[in-house]
Amino acid sequence: MAASTAPTTPAARGPGVPRHVAIVMDGNGRWARRRFMPRVFGHKFGMETVVRVIDDCARRGIEYLTVYAFSSENWKRPDEEVSGLMNLVLVGVSKYLTRLAKDGVRIKVMGDRSAVSEKVRQAWNEAEELTKNNPGLTLTVAFNYGGRWDIVQACKRALAEGVLAEELSEEVLSRHMALAHAPDPDLFIRTGGEVRVSNFLLWQLAYSEMYFTECLWPDFDAAELDKAIAAYSGRERRFGAVLDKAADKAPA
Ligand code: IPE
Ligand code: IPE
Ligand code: MG
Repeated sequence: MAASTAPTTPAARGPGVPRHVAIVMDGNGRWARRRFMPRVFGHKFGMETVVRVIDDCARRGIEYLTVYAFSSENWKRPDEEVSGLMNLVLVGVSKYLTRLAKDGVRIKVMGDRSAVSEKVRQAWNEAEELTKNNPGLTLTVAFNYGGRWDIVQACKRALAEGVLAEELSEEVLSRHMALAHAPDPDLFIRTGGEVRVSNFLLWQLAYSEMYFTECLWPDFDAAELDKAIAAYSGRERRFGAVLDKAADKAPA
């Protein structure tokens, strides 16, 4: 296992660098097919890419990285691919957890864990438990995750806690969403060329800046990340307000 020199405490975030980046890591299957390999081969390379990108983000001072690894709709894929993806969780945790923990990464997993195998559940629990007090980048892995599932589970938990209909608010619901431990994503990236959200963070993306690239996920690297950050830093985030107050004044 290659030793990493990633900072264990977050690097200072430069100007124009987002605090929270959320990524739909798409294109693994096509990447493999272009090499006449099975789709699972692409997922294996995709996992290596995640590990590199965690490091690239930490070095740029990004505090939160949220990655879409398995959607609630991905069960529709062939059995062989689904079991290959489940197996990659076990391989990934045994291969990289120690190193990520040493680098100070805090791992969180969000999604419906009731439907995954006991082994996969244990691997995710171990990753969260071992890294829970780490001071570095927070990596959230969306696994068996869907944005609609998230909104429903947040409502259910709020109701179970006794929240009354008149007490339900955006703030209360936000506190029950699966990503309550992080601010809303500043930058949303989707690789692989599709221009859609595919049931990712429906609630939390309300004001995220969107960036789409043709680059297939296994090819995503530091240069691609910098292109996305450059695009983000050139955006004017208004959150519904008017920033240029002078624009409203009548000409003299
Ligand atoms: C994204 O890559 C990874 C997962 C959905 C797990 P895909 O497997 O969707 O790759 P393409 O879109 O078929 O190329
Ligand atoms: C989104 O990609 C899910 C993940 C990257 C985990 P998909 O490949 O499943 O999305 P669609 O089917 O193209 O919308
Ligand atoms: Mg895809």
